[in-house]
Amino acid sequence: MKKQIRLNLIFHTSGRHDAGWKTFDDPTTLVDDVDHQIAYAKLAEEAKFDAIFLPDTPAVLSKSFLRKPRRGLDPAVLLSAIARETTHLGLISTASSLYGHPYFVARSIASLHHVSKGRAGWNIVTSQDDETLEALGLPAGSQLDRDTRYERAAEFVEIVTGLWDSLPTSAITADRENDIYIDPSLAHPVDAQGKHFSSHGVMQMTGRYEGQRPVLFQAGISPHSRKFGSKYADALFTSQPNLEHDRKFYAEVKGYAEKYGRNPDHLLVLPGLYAVVGDTVEQARKAKAEIDEMMDMGFLLNLLSRQIGIPVEELDPHKPLPVELFETIPTDDEVIQYRRNDIGGVAQAHGFTVKQLVHHNLTRGQRTVFGTPEQIADTIEEWADTGVGDGFNVNAHVQPAGVERFKDVITELHNRGRYRSEYEYSTFRENYGLPLR
Ligand SMILES: Cc1cc2nc3c(=O)[nH]c(=O)nc-3n(C[C@H](O)[C@H](O)[C@H](O)COP(=O)(O)O)c2cc1C
Repeated sequence: MKKQIRLNLIFHTSGRHDAGWKTFDDPTTLVDDVDHQIAYAKLAEEAKFDAIFLPDTPAVLSKSFLRKPRRGLDPAVLLSAIARETTHLGLISTASSLYGHPYFVARSIASLHHVSKGRAGWNIVTSQDDETLEALGLPAGSQLDRDTRYERAAEFVEIVTGLWDSLPTSAITADRENDIYIDPSLAHPVDAQGKHFSSHGVMQMTGRYEGQRPVLFQAGISPHSRKFGSKYADALFTSQPNLEHDRKFYAEVKGYAEKYGRNPDHLLVLPGLYAVVGDTVEQARKAKAEIDEMMDMGFLLNLLSRQIGIPVEELDPHKPLPVELFETIPTDDEVIQYRRNDIGGVAQAHGFTVKQLVHHNLTRGQRTVFGTPEQIADTIEEWADTGVGDGFNVNAHVQPAGVERFKDVITELHNRGRYRSEYEYSTFRENYGLPLR
């Protein structure tokens, strides 16, 4: 059997494209309309995606929320509603491993796991944006350094998985004669006294469904994150600036998995993919360009101006990027220097005008592919066979149209023996080909 490719759908509110919401007749309900989200999840299941992945962050309104809708519903609550309207789709919730107590995450994800009958996933994140600190009442600038962040995250994950395993189904003896429902001698109480988190005892529910834990995902980029994810996760989400970095990331984390005594095939690597399907490449490009035009050019120019430290008056949408100004307007800011290199390189390599450049940047470094279903399937197969990823997290540029078109890519992959035509199993872990731990 050929290597099977894994595909998750990233569950945006209106699509990956920042102007995707402008294609909706009534976009005012997008942040909290459950029916819209359930319909979208059903579409993902019809297309036979492995799972939907709900990115999330606890936060108060920040500037980015003011320009496009971000899903407001709590991911575990929303996924529980979706669970009862779907049958096979994996359901990946996101929860921080830095804030709050691990007990609450253990119980919430375990509950989703049971409500969905074995289809829950937890995306372990370690972000600490300003809007999160504000929402949680933490002082501005109180971001933790990487060592502390990942030390805290490791304690968090160990408590969550410990709680999941603390009450095995075999301990629920329901022994009528001896008047015992749970036999505590068969339970595995957690006894964690960490530097950051502690927990003691047995969780009041089983964390496994038919002996299987929820699937663990981890999202990150830094060297710390790679080691942490390779140790704890079943699958890694990543976003790398180019294919060379993707391949390096892939080889590195598979190596770490081995070092941690794991079978590297049991650590899936899933980079993001921004796919625009059309009848031809030109038509796919045109479809994106039409939505690009819905963006406010003044906003995009100001954003670029801040990113590269060049006054906005110097940026003419119809002319090439004035890279000569990088020398006449020098900067000590390392981030700006990096972006000048990166964005300037892209502009020159493609011969973009400023307008084309800011529209290109809307995909934010996601691996972007335009083409027919056959062409996109070719690319996915090639990348899966050359150490870029074991599969991909697919972004539809607009919802739901982008997913309807992507169904043809999935059919094409199925015809080539690289993807299912029907779900083989009922649990997420089994459908993902992971060990049944
Ligand atoms: C592909 C990808 C998806 C992510 N998704 C989320 C998310 O949904 N919510 C969140 O708070 N952080 C998310 N993050 C942020 C990571 O959890 C992490 O905090 C961030 O990458 C910084 O950590 P690092 O510098 O150690 O890589 C994501 C990161 C990546 C690379």
